[in-house]
Amino acid sequence: MKQDMILILDLGSEHNPQLAREIRALGVYSEIHPHDISQAELAALPNVKGIILNGGPNRVVDGVEIDAGAHVYGAGVPVLTPDHRGGAPWPEDGEQRKKALSDFVFGQCRAQANWNMDNFIADQIELIRRQVGDGKVLLALSGGVDSSVVAALLIRAIGKQLTCVHVNHGLLRKGEPEQVVQVFRHEMDANLIYVDAVDRFLDKLAGVSDPEQKRKIIGGEFIRVFEEEARKLEGISFLGQGTIYPDIIESGTKTVKAVKSHHNVGGLPEDLDFQLVEPLKMLFKDEVRACGKALGLPDSMVYRQPFPGPGLGVRCLGAITRDRLEAVRESDAILREEFARHGLEGKVWQYFTIIPDVKSVGVRDGKRADEWPVILRAVNTVDAMTATVENVPFDLLQHITHRITHEVKGVNRVLYDLTPKPTGTIEWE
Ligand code: XMP
Repeated sequence: MKQDMILILDLGSEHNPQLAREIRALGVYSEIHPHDISQAELAALPNVKGIILNGGPNRVVDGVEIDAGAHVYGAGVPVLTPDHRGGAPWPEDGEQRKKALSDFVFGQCRAQANWNMDNFIADQIELIRRQVGDGKVLLALSGGVDSSVVAALLIRAIGKQLTCVHVNHGLLRKGEPEQVVQVFRHEMDANLIYVDAVDRFLDKLAGVSDPEQKRKIIGGEFIRVFEEEARKLEGISFLGQGTIYPDIIESGTKTVKAVKSHHNVGGLPEDLDFQLVEPLKMLFKDEVRACGKALGLPDSMVYRQPFPGPGLGVRCLGAITRDRLEAVRESDAILREEFARHGLEGKVWQYFTIIPDVKSVGVRDGKRADEWPVILRAVNTVDAMTATVENVPFDLLQHITHRITHEVKGVNRVLYDLTPKPTGTIEWE
């Protein structure tokens, strides 16, 4: 293993992820583990140079103050206890805190600042090979950032022992399924099974207008299609997953209650009985992107804006029809193209189009014609809990309007959504 590690044990602090980030910002790798880590688990962690027992408001669980076992205190590396046992509390001030942390990490623990993507990748390749041996791994590759980076890492580690399954459910953005095939099958020479499930999904969704019902159908059908593909393959004992650190935090730890159940954690058919391979589970999103870049994935994949699992399905409002779905896909492509051309790609957090299930009268070729409107949405946010609207130049909005109303079949009006979150949400359903 190439990287030194500072181990954070979760004794109920809500700031463990922040602490891990601060240590990584010093160039030293850091992982967070539960307070009750066993002696064997601790011994299995490579290059632990120091341990921080990070307590906090959730330290008392069911009336009992939790603590790490004696084997942690006796592990033979420096142990820092910032909130108890006479230890000094963390300084609030950023600079002093950094100094205290760096004194501990470099002064007491003598850790090397050797946390970088090349070392992370080298370590993960070794760990993946050790875990998988000559076994076979299956991966659902959506083309999103996380699954793409896991795929690239697994390809680097085990090549053709990996089989990727890309399910095209018909709700992806223009060009996305083609890019997945191009990058992974042609450029990275991966085993890639491409499943055209467009008709299957659209048939299931026909006539369904309730948004939650639509989400359920898309999620459920996805698992069924994936499962069918998995059962056709022989000798697979591992499942690759693009779980990243925020997914784990959101699903709750021993001391922090679940914020929400996450689609990336759990939700798999149990009887398939796979062992999980999750090499990104300790990475924050920006680190996942850096990893993808270091593995040679294209920027358009690595810096992709967030895209909901149910995809264009929740942007084609009400019951999905093929013609409106095509209109939302084409208008989205025009919006993305124009934002890229005008330097807004990578600057605006999320931007897309929505098509409602209403028509209004307009004029086309000198005749009155009932057609759909398209709504543009472009927002900025830090955590998606609140969002502000991007101030898109008016002439660009007019240009996009002209293109959409002239190039997208069945669309005669374009509207710009000026609503922040709250009161709006980012998506429309
Ligand atoms: P809202 O609309 O709740 O969206 O303001 C916040 C962020 O979450 C994304 N989003 C989803 N992502 N499955 C997902 O994976 C979903 O069902 C879903 N709904 C919303 C949305 O695109 C935005 O980034």
